[in-house]
Amino acid sequence: MTGPAEDSLEKIAAEVRGCPLCKLARTRKNAVPGEGQLAAKIMFIGEAPGRSEDEKGRPFVGAAGRILDDMLKKAGIERSQVFITNVVKCRPPNNRVPEEDEAVACRPYLDRQIAIIRPKVICILGKTAYSSLLGGNSITANRGKIVEKAGQKYFLTIHPAAAIYNRSLLSVLEADLKKLAKEIKDKKEKSSLENYL
Ligand code: URA
Ligand code: SF4
Repeated sequence: MTGPAEDSLEKIAAEVRGCPLCKLARTRKNAVPGEGQLAAKIMFIGEAPGRSEDEKGRPFVGAAGRILDDMLKKAGIERSQVFITNVVKCRPPNNRVPEEDEAVACRPYLDRQIAIIRPKVICILGKTAYSSLLGGNSITANRGKIVEKAGQKYFLTIHPAAAIYNRSLLSVLEADLKKLAKEIKDKKEKSSLENYL
């Protein structure tokens, strides 16, 4: 049995890069395990790698990634301090939405990443991650909210790609990520005060 104690992000990444477990393995160029800090307080979960991610083997490095980077900067969150990954680790053909069997096959990798990192908050980016992780329907109706499930906190927001064609969503994403940053910051101050008292 592989528990978090023996597991590692590097081990997961190596398994993902050679993973044959669903049909996306046949069409990918590079699997995209995700990247970031072992000690990340925030973990971002998107949908699936797109073309640029598939080329580079890294998450959120195309147009959606530029928006995410910009919003993280505006919210004062360092990209290098968080962990960024996706529901499925390989690009679906023509960027279609991942199918249920693909998300199910890929899920253990995500669960292992979460178990190792133990983030304070998981930031759900868009409806695929929302439905896959929380069984949610409308991300637009629920964005900006924090929900808790099985002792894990989740922050819900839109997918950065949604703002590529609807620029008015840029300010929505910006406001949400600032709220997320504040949530993490308030918590830090509260816990250091608790330590002091
Ligand atoms: N969109 C995603 O959902 N994930 C990426 O890594 C890039 C674009
Ligand atoms: Fe394996 Fe996930 Fe890639 Fe499917 S999407 S081949 S389960 S790593």
